[in-house]
Amino acid sequence: MEFHFPPVADVMKLRFVSYIILLLILGSCSEDTQIQAPTAYEFVPPAHFGDNFDIPSDNSFTIQGIELGRNLFYEKNLSRNGQVSCGSCHQQSKAFTDGSKFSKGVDRELTDKSSMALVNLVWNTKFFWDGRAVTLEEQSLQPIADHIEMDLPLDEAVERLTNSESYKQQFFSAFETDEITADLIAKALAQFMRTLVSSNSKYDQFLLGQGELTEQEKLGMNLFFTHPEPSTGLRGGNCGDCHLNILTSGDREGYQGFHNNGLDTENNLEEGLMSVTAKAEDKGKFKAPSLRNIALTAPYMHDGRFATLDEVLDHYNEEIRISSTLDVLISDATNLNTKSDEQVLLGLTDEEKEAIIAFLNTLTDDEFISNEAFSNPFRP
Ligand code: HEC
Ligand code: HEC
Repeated sequence: MEFHFPPVADVMKLRFVSYIILLLILGSCSEDTQIQAPTAYEFVPPAHFGDNFDIPSDNSFTIQGIELGRNLFYEKNLSRNGQVSCGSCHQQSKAFTDGSKFSKGVDRELTDKSSMALVNLVWNTKFFWDGRAVTLEEQSLQPIADHIEMDLPLDEAVERLTNSESYKQQFFSAFETDEITADLIAKALAQFMRTLVSSNSKYDQFLLGQGELTEQEKLGMNLFFTHPEPSTGLRGGNCGDCHLNILTSGDREGYQGFHNNGLDTENNLEEGLMSVTAKAEDKGKFKAPSLRNIALTAPYMHDGRFATLDEVLDHYNEEIRISSTLDVLISDATNLNTKSDEQVLLGLTDEEKEAIIAFLNTLTDDEFISNEAFSNPFRP
């Protein structure tokens, strides 16, 4: 085939046309630069919570980032078959758990752990029951790729979002780039999850001097925070030793917030934290979660073994199992008041157990579970 150079006039025409196209592009670019940069979002922690937390310097809050994160959190297309979103196993009405012992993933197969409440995560530094993620950015991609949970390879997640005009625009307004990446998905999800702050329970109001507790609730509160001293007769439930306060589990330094709370005897201990640290002394230790909204998040423990708070209290009071890593705070509190070779007793009365449960019920925050900003944006 013969190739002809285009005649000079045509070249000029071409140049003219490309010049016009260039102008148009430049014009649209200068319009683009007028598209608003992401708007910084000022995160204001409740005054009685304190500011002992870090926001990663490369993922500061923006209004657009949080909104994108919320959409991604409820986006079922981030699962292989389009049927499961983060919100399936983390439902707002249940303080972001799902009410099941184990959760159903993409093929209705079950997870091997119970879903966790998502609340006040900003004050946490270890995530999952065994603490295997140290930032929410690191945590948030795991369920997407997990074969049981959402089972979507991350490059496919990126591809699906890139094929959506709406998400392309949202990523652009949140992160000022046309290129969607797994890293940015993680950042947006983390921003949204950091906004899930619960601070308006009856107990908060009491702490702020804006409300009263009943006598029973007060008794429960005192027992909750008292480390018993059997030798002097001081009674207590010992709970506050590990569930340090209603905010966090004191997990900021190392793995301090991880304990063996006596669920199993030596032979039945699961790995727990040991699967992360590889230390035998960490066998059977799990994250002591925040007890905020605990009345809404049954069943309880990493394997959802207790259906009610009554069962939880029976456990701590009468069913603690002895093992080599049983937390010293528990063995100390019970003064090794043994029920059998394998069990120790805390020795609370039924009335005291009821009082602790009454106190736990004051940790429910109705504003948190009805806050529009946390709700599913795809639900009319
Ligand atoms: C199929 C159910 C399911 C889905 C879907 C799911 N999760 Fe979870 N989530 C769980 C379970 C179960 C755990 C505890 C897992 C463990 O510790 O091994 C958990 C734990 C977490 C934690 C740790 C909380 C803490 O206090 O340590 C966070 C955060 C979280 N999920 C966020 C997400 C996000 C974000 C998504 C979507 C990208 C998601 N989850 C999707 C079931 C699910
Ligand atoms: C030695 C530390 C320790 C003490 C003391 C302790 N806990 Fe726990 N608690 C934990 C740990 C660790 C877990 C998670 C264990 C697991 O799932 O394997 C937990 C789990 C729970 C849960 C279930 C949380 C959930 O989201 O499923 C409740 C409720 C609870 N504790 C209440 C109490 C009460 C009430 C007391 C006092 C009577 C108490 N705890 C004393 C460490 C402790």
